[in-house]
Amino acid sequence: MSVVLEGFGLAKRFGPTVALDGVGLAVHGGEAVAIMGPSGSGKSTLLHCLAGIMRPDAGEVRLLGRRIDTMGERERSALRRTRFGFVFQFGQLLPELPADENVALPLMLGGVSRADAVRQSREWFAPLGLAGMEGRRPGELSGGQAQRVAIARALVTRPAVVFADEPTGALDQATGHDTMRLLADATRHNGASLVVVTHDPEVARWCDRVVEVRDGRILPRPGMGGREAVTGEGGPGAVTRAGGPEAVTRAGGPEAAGRSGGSATVPRAVPGAAG
Ligand SMILES: Nc1ncnc2c1ncn2[C@@H]1O[C@H](COP(=O)(O)OP(=O)(O)OP(=O)(O)O)[C@@H](O)[C@H]1O
Ligand SMILES: [Mg+2]
Repeated sequence: MSVVLEGFGLAKRFGPTVALDGVGLAVHGGEAVAIMGPSGSGKSTLLHCLAGIMRPDAGEVRLLGRRIDTMGERERSALRRTRFGFVFQFGQLLPELPADENVALPLMLGGVSRADAVRQSREWFAPLGLAGMEGRRPGELSGGQAQRVAIARALVTRPAVVFADEPTGALDQATGHDTMRLLADATRHNGASLVVVTHDPEVARWCDRVVEVRDGRILPRPGMGGREAVTGEGGPGAVTRAGGPEAVTRAGGPEAAGRSGGSATVPRAVPGAAG
């Protein structure tokens, strides 16, 4: 699979603090990359640079070969809205809007009419295990349900890359694992790449590979973190993309499938994947 997003020699300081010290990372089409490392090691800074949220002091970021780090704020913001999706730890849903309008928001910002945007957004609810939740406000959802709404909102524009920073950080472990599996499956199912920052090694199991960040650098790890290195079986090239419900089970093996305690809670398809 070809490279979708690539950072080269990324460096970022905050005053005397070196947050990134020359990081390169290539994300291939449809793959899920977990970024792990201790607190303060530079994970969020790396994600923000790759996502065009933050401009690195040095280095380059390219999306499909095109430099994005040198774009102006307006252009980067349009790019983030159309090509990227985001899932953060919490606080990302607008509390005054019902769930379906929260999901519809990125479409409306892109010029889709409200009625069309809400109709499209509702297609995501059942596949993400949210049937019946369309009209609820974020305060009326559980943490796991709110994160599913956030996943729908990240995917509704059909982005090239979804970025997630500690998406399960505010959830209990079981809910966190369900949510992460859903995030990984739904991004894969839609042909999007996933870059996810996590502290949870179990969460990283649902990704194709793990990149370790330490003191603003990527740690070389045998069998992991290398450009072609992939954890688990198969790797990105071996995975069926947009291939129907069976594509929803992914890296992690049989025990991962049983981990969430019942497939009934884990949706099996995502809109648009079948056709
Ligand atoms: N806006 C900022 N101003 C000053 N220093 C910052 C800023 N953002 C990050 N830093 C510093 O840069 C370093 C890397 O921060 P970063 O947020 O990338 O770490 P992280 O790996 O995401 O940590 P955590 O796991 O705690 O979220 C840290 O030393 C942090 O204190
Ligand atoms: Mg962070």
